[in-house]
Amino acid sequence: MPDGLDPAEAETLVVNGITAWQLLHRTARTPRGATILVHGANGGVGSVLVQLARAAGITVIGTASARNADAVRALGAQWVDYTGDVPALVRELAPGGVAAVFDHIGGPGIVDSFRLLAPGGALVAYGTAATKDTEGDSRLPVLKLLARLALWNALPNRRRAHFYNLWAGKRNAAAFRTRIADDLGRVFALAVAGEVRGQVAARLPLAEAAAALRLAESRTVVGKVVLEP
Ligand SMILES: NC(=O)c1ccc[n+]([C@@H]2O[C@H](COP(=O)([O-])OP(=O)(O)OC[C@H]3O[C@@H](n4cnc5c(N)ncnc54)[C@H](OP(=O)(O)O)[C@@H]3O)[C@@H](O)[C@H]2O)c1
Repeated sequence: MPDGLDPAEAETLVVNGITAWQLLHRTARTPRGATILVHGANGGVGSVLVQLARAAGITVIGTASARNADAVRALGAQWVDYTGDVPALVRELAPGGVAAVFDHIGGPGIVDSFRLLAPGGALVAYGTAATKDTEGDSRLPVLKLLARLALWNALPNRRRAHFYNLWAGKRNAAAFRTRIADDLGRVFALAVAGEVRGQVAARLPLAEAAAALRLAESRTVVGKVVLEP
């Protein structure tokens, strides 16, 4: 824990911060001056990703529901309503396409995400929220997504498609720990400098863990619900 950082805020930055850093800087490797599309820009990962991108001189278009529009704009992104015609709205803001799309939704919308890439762009998928309630084997939607990404990579289209997994490479424990420590250190340094804020939606005592979980799953809060001892 670096000095000068609130422990609750720091906690919201651990998994989300490392994930967001690696999505942007290790997987997509988005350059300064580029424009990217972040789905769920008000979420735990999305909100940190927007701030990291802004700190790196990257323009951000962020999708969220209308009730989170102000929160997304306050992070420095241009807001797009995910219940609207997302491809058309994004094209208005970035007619030539975007340098990267970060997509935790999956499902049929992943095709739009890929089509929104400019030449040389990277699609980074890291979840399949659209299919989380699908009946049957929960691995199938993930396998379908991985097959799609592999096909897009194999075709000559001057675009990249990745599936990001925070835990990838953990068998090499020493290298994994070094990478995690480096990346969290960079996120914490930006937090200490005031360029990134952890989004603490609420703080509840540990004894109220059940209420905290209900609140976290209610989709009414911006950021993370933190349990305090
Ligand atoms: N692959 C990995 O290694 C890795 C690592 C960390 C997280 N993840 C995954 O990343 C996802 C996000 O995690 P999180 O902690 O950021 O969750 P979160 O805080 O619950 O945020 C989810 C966000 O998704 C938004 N959303 C829901 N449906 C959407 C849609 N159709 N289009 C655009 N946005 C939509 C929500 O917006 P509203 O509230 O406005 O509906 C919310 O902002 C989860 O699925 C998690 O499992 C993967």
